[in-house]
Amino acid sequence: MKFEGRVALVTGASQGIGLACAVSLARQGAAVALAARNQQKLDELAQQISTAGGKAATFVIDVAEEEQIKSGIKAALAHFGKIDILVNNAGITRDQLVMRMKRADWDAVLSTNLTSAYLTIQQVIGSMLRQRWGRIINVSSIFGQTGQAGQANYAASKAGLIGLTMAMAREVASRNITVNAVAPGFIETSMTAALSEEFKQNAVKMIPLGRVGTPEDVANAVSFLASDEASYITGHVLNVNGGMLMG
Ligand code: NAI
Repeated sequence: MKFEGRVALVTGASQGIGLACAVSLARQGAAVALAARNQQKLDELAQQISTAGGKAATFVIDVAEEEQIKSGIKAALAHFGKIDILVNNAGITRDQLVMRMKRADWDAVLSTNLTSAYLTIQQVIGSMLRQRWGRIINVSSIFGQTGQAGQANYAASKAGLIGLTMAMAREVASRNITVNAVAPGFIETSMTAALSEEFKQNAVKMIPLGRVGTPEDVANAVSFLASDEASYITGHVLNVNGGMLMG
């Protein structure tokens, strides 16, 4: 129970990687604030966690809406008294070549994937500073490291998260708060389910470990960065990509 007594908040917790992170942190003893837009899915997950003996509470937050971030995190802080671990996981894609990309699709991706992290951090950092312990983990992407044609908005948001991670790590390191990112490669979730079978088979050929990743592969990396074992790691980007990108 390495997270006994800790409180974690996970955005985009209702499915995929966010759900796996919430389940993993709860299984290891953390009380988890589950944040996403869909109350019903959040309730189902909270039920699943409590049936397994864990603690969870739900907070409806659309991370593209500043006021919902402020009120939702305020409610989570009131409920649990503190937030020790923040996992900024919520994310979307709106793919298009730049020459055809609508401004609305640029803005939606940047505000959901990047601005949201700046806003959630602002809301939780006071709680972490007061107790001189905190873990912030931002879910970036391999495409924030390499770029990807047709995903300039997404790649920019995920590269931006890496910059935010490093800057924030420097701002709060003296208070025993670490800020890290994970950069998943190709993970089997609804985000990648829409890709054609041919695309997936070609993608697997580029993965030295020879398989796509699971949400649990990412959750394991997030749990490690949230743990005391990772207390001397900050400003780092941990690749969870099966070897697709090394270095
Ligand atoms: P997913 O589509 O299953 O999950 C995305 C989550 O974000 C969902 O729970 C969704 O409800 C939530 N979300 C989206 N917009 C939101 C909003 N405005 N407010 C609150 N919640 C919102 O996809 P997946 O794969 O689990 O994605 C999770 C994170 O992992 C994303 O940030 C994604 O960019 C990142 N990632 C995924 C990869 C993959 O191959 N699946 C690879 C690299 C990064």
